[in-house]
Amino acid sequence: MFERPDVGERAILVHIDFSSHEGSEDPGEFRELVSSAGVEAVGTVTGTRKQPSPRLFVGEGKLEEISDAVALHGADVVLFNHALSPSQERNIERELKCRVLDRTGVILDIFAQRARTHEGKLQVELAQLDHMSTRLIRGWTHLERQGGGIGLRGPGETQLETDRRLLRERIKSIHKRLSKVRRQRDQGRRARKRADIPTVSLVGYTNAGKSTLFNSITRSSVYAADQLFATLDPTLRRLELPDIGPVVMADTVGFIRHLPHKLVEAFRATLQETTEASLLLHIVDSHDDRRDENISQVEDVLLEIRAEEIPVLQVFNKIDLLDNFTPRVERNEEGVPVRAWVSAVSGEGLDGLYDAIVERLAEDVVHYFVLLGPADGKLRALLHEAGSVLSEEHRETGETVLETRLQQRDWLQLLSRAGKSEESVRLDTERT
Ligand code: GTP
Repeated sequence: MFERPDVGERAILVHIDFSSHEGSEDPGEFRELVSSAGVEAVGTVTGTRKQPSPRLFVGEGKLEEISDAVALHGADVVLFNHALSPSQERNIERELKCRVLDRTGVILDIFAQRARTHEGKLQVELAQLDHMSTRLIRGWTHLERQGGGIGLRGPGETQLETDRRLLRERIKSIHKRLSKVRRQRDQGRRARKRADIPTVSLVGYTNAGKSTLFNSITRSSVYAADQLFATLDPTLRRLELPDIGPVVMADTVGFIRHLPHKLVEAFRATLQETTEASLLLHIVDSHDDRRDENISQVEDVLLEIRAEEIPVLQVFNKIDLLDNFTPRVERNEEGVPVRAWVSAVSGEGLDGLYDAIVERLAEDVVHYFVLLGPADGKLRALLHEAGSVLSEEHRETGETVLETRLQQRDWLQLLSRAGKSEESVRLDTERT
């Protein structure tokens, strides 16, 4: 055991290329991840190796090189762009006399800082505890007691009691709270669905500018507090769109390549809103060298969570960083808007994006004047129940004209519940 140095925010990064490994992590991206965790990378040690050494992950010589870099730069933490086993992490730490964190630890730290919903925070804490629990062995116990620093902060930090029994109890209680929060969230979602409010969900690679755009869009729109959103969920906001009515906008956690296994579950659970959205805004950093790779990475995840059928509007953000670029909206052969070029920071292109969102949502909305006879009571009741009736007029002939506006798929669903086919419904064609 050694006296543990104070935790700081100056880091040495370690990236090793293994000839036996395909698709190893990108060192550039790791640097960005580390900096978005608020840590200063003061030096980088790279190397190549056939395969990881079981005890120290790197060779003795490389370890010395890392140790020299730590001393030279006065670093407080060494961050590996790799997954380390608990014993490797411990061995390296003992040799270097300096804190060591692996890639999973770094990403967990970022998630901990970014989690905004109650559910998200609990999920990250669970993942942190899980990651820690395998590392709670003698020689480590004192590490978690001291707050602060990368990997040790966030929702979990105060509860990171080092006793295993406490840890297990904590994990159990989080599971319980999580299921309660999920139940509340589900209720909110169901209520919105009943009220027929479409959701627009923002997705995108980490750092694409989702939250900035979310704030720009929702700030400039009419914001209405609503009982349905009394859940205090900062990632959901309600707006009123012309011709569409109320819409929920949902921000989501950013996607990261090669997400550690421990986080995949937590990450997917936060995407529930996405799988039920009427429209996805796929936010892309148009200035990023890996723009196209990031797009396909996000598309792969959408496929995994079965959101591939949901209409997508791409938003190429950060055009203020491109040379001489004017905002525009691109359309496909059918004239449907498919990509908007904007800057969430300068506000360029946001009007076009706003109109494109309205246009894409309107695709799905039907606005009918339905003629109902005395035998159509069930359909009339269902339309009222769905809150889709805008006006109702009784004619002398005994017929009723219902002006309705609702999502196409809900219209079809109500018809089938009323035992009617689309052809059998009479519409006032002059006004519809
Ligand atoms: P995650 O939370 O990791 O998913 O990130 P995010 O997609 O929500 O990105 P966020 O809104 O946090 O923005 C990331 C960085 O990009 C911030 O530093 C923003 O200030 C910056 N940014 C966002 N939009 C723009 C833009 O239009 N132009 C420029 N120049 N920077 C932008």
